Amino acid sequence: MCGIVGYVGNRQAQDVVMEGLRRLEYRGYDSAGIAVVSGGALHVRKKSGKLANLTALLGDEPLPEATSGMGHTRWATHGPPNDRNAHPHVSYVGKVAVVHNGIIENFAALRAGLEERGIEMGSDTDTEVVAHLVQDAFETVPADSASRLREAVRAVCNQLEGAFTLVICHADEPDTVIGARRNSPLVAGLGDGEYFLGSDVSAFIAHTREAIELGQDQICEINRDRGVTVVGFDGVEAQLSHYTIDWDDAAAEKGGYDWFMLKEIAEQPAVVADTLRGRLTESGQIVLDEVRLSDQDFRDVTKIFIIACGTSSYAGMIAKYAIEHWTRIPCEVELASEFRYRDPVLDRSTLVIAISQSGETMDTLMALRHAKAQHARILAICNTIGSTIPRESDAVLYTRAGVEIAVASTKAFLAQIVACYLIALHLASVRGTKWGDEVAVVVDQLRSMPEAVDRVLDTMEPVRELARAELADQSQVLFLGRHVGFPVALEGALKLKELAYMHAEGFAAGELKHGPIALISDGTPVIVVCPSPRGRDSLHGKVISNIQEVRARGAKTIVIAEEGDEEVTPFADHVIRVPSCPTLLAPLVTAVPLQVLACEVAAAKGLDVDQPRNLAKSVTVE
Ligand code: M6R
Repeated sequence: MCGIVGYVGNRQAQDVVMEGLRRLEYRGYDSAGIAVVSGGALHVRKKSGKLANLTALLGDEPLPEATSGMGHTRWATHGPPNDRNAHPHVSYVGKVAVVHNGIIENFAALRAGLEERGIEMGSDTDTEVVAHLVQDAFETVPADSASRLREAVRAVCNQLEGAFTLVICHADEPDTVIGARRNSPLVAGLGDGEYFLGSDVSAFIAHTREAIELGQDQICEINRDRGVTVVGFDGVEAQLSHYTIDWDDAAAEKGGYDWFMLKEIAEQPAVVADTLRGRLTESGQIVLDEVRLSDQDFRDVTKIFIIACGTSSYAGMIAKYAIEHWTRIPCEVELASEFRYRDPVLDRSTLVIAISQSGETMDTLMALRHAKAQHARILAICNTIGSTIPRESDAVLYTRAGVEIAVASTKAFLAQIVACYLIALHLASVRGTKWGDEVAVVVDQLRSMPEAVDRVLDTMEPVRELARAELADQSQVLFLGRHVGFPVALEGALKLKELAYMHAEGFAAGELKHGPIALISDGTPVIVVCPSPRGRDSLHGKVISNIQEVRARGAKTIVIAEEGDEEVTPFADHVIRVPSCPTLLAPLVTAVPLQVLACEVAAAKGLDVDQPRNLAKSVTVE
């Protein structure tokens, strides 16, 4: 949610900042802006709409040469997404420029104080107050201070409430850019004589893979001569925590696909394989040495809560079936945004699994903190190394999906399911609810899943045609599933909603007759995730009955069914075939056609698949 870049070095700041913004645009695209420091002055350009509008503006009104600067791509919170509210915001004497991600909760009081002094506001944002406050604070820091701007920013941060990442520069300090963070992401990059700040590492991955993690309530100064210095909001200098980014520049490019989403869908076989890699022994046992919880910790667990949002919560819903079936530990899945408001019962023997692709989702982070305060153990399943959720958890199992750029999550979803299953199997073995040979059977099945996903991807052309011919002009689409097929149906509906802006709802197939069946009229498309006929005996038959019920009321049925399942054929207007696999692993194949369908419907409607309206990749506000 909002992408931020800062730069000090030896190249043209405009080029570096614009390149960083291009890679961060998935975080928000309501407006974009850039500021550079040159000739003792700030030079700012900003424009509403996508980054392309800012690029066009820079063509008409080029910036001067400069080697320090910063930029922002916005997901609007305070004030509509227009030019006036675009970042950077500049202080009343034009010396300080600020970009911000998050919400400054006490901005109204701060703004009132500034207005009383006669300072006129140039925007509706909560951010602008910071520029004016830093301007004032800078004047109060002695000119011979080691870092005047850093000290000024620190003084202001101590007045702010809420969540924020700030990047700030000052016209009088062309060699310095300051970043600050509280409950909102920021990382620093170390190049050769050049330094970067970014909401995430994709901001500077084109230039360096050496990064520095920043903790909560820290200020990071990047300075041409001094390099990187980190201090807490209390002024105490912090040790730098270095790491090397383990993916490269090419991973953040489309690689010949029309959309990042298509590329990410295609990467899924490799992602499933990577998430398993090194975590299975030859004899089919689970090795999770990286998870810093002992076997005894796992044995002590009496209850599991999974907390997550959106697609990650559907991965959690799928995992619940496996966890309870394999470990016999009661497991509840909660929307992170609701979790702490209903006073859940937690104690030391509760394991809370927080699932998040970005590792920065504020709802999940706040739920995690609530659970931690109740002494529960927290295990994160996360895709982003060094992000806040794993940092604040007791243990982490990283999914290895690689960077996910399309706003609609795809490959991270499959990786999350696999990671949850690894945890579930590990729990089952250490607790003795599954014998070694039983675990080995599931491990073997998991090992075959990359190939199964690959086979699904090879058969997607008819699905694309179906999307264009049958779905693109519909006003609503319903999705049905049972057991693990139910969360897959929810995920299919979410993909269609967020990408194609269509009314799409997922239902537990058995629940339909209790009300939602009234939505069905002549020609309503209903997509059904059908379980294997070889799985739990009654499930397949029940879903076939549900298909007949909707068909009898005029629905057009599109059924995702296992290869060789001929029982569904008479009741399906279209069948999408997926390889046969065990019931609990089926979501890894049944989710894929639904991703492809949504992507294709959106493309057929001429929509931006990677950057759907109103959304952002990483939701860092509650
Ligand atoms: O980064 P997270 O996994 O915590 O994000 C959770 C949701 O915001 C995310 O899955 C969202 O629902 C996606 N847009 C779904 O495609």
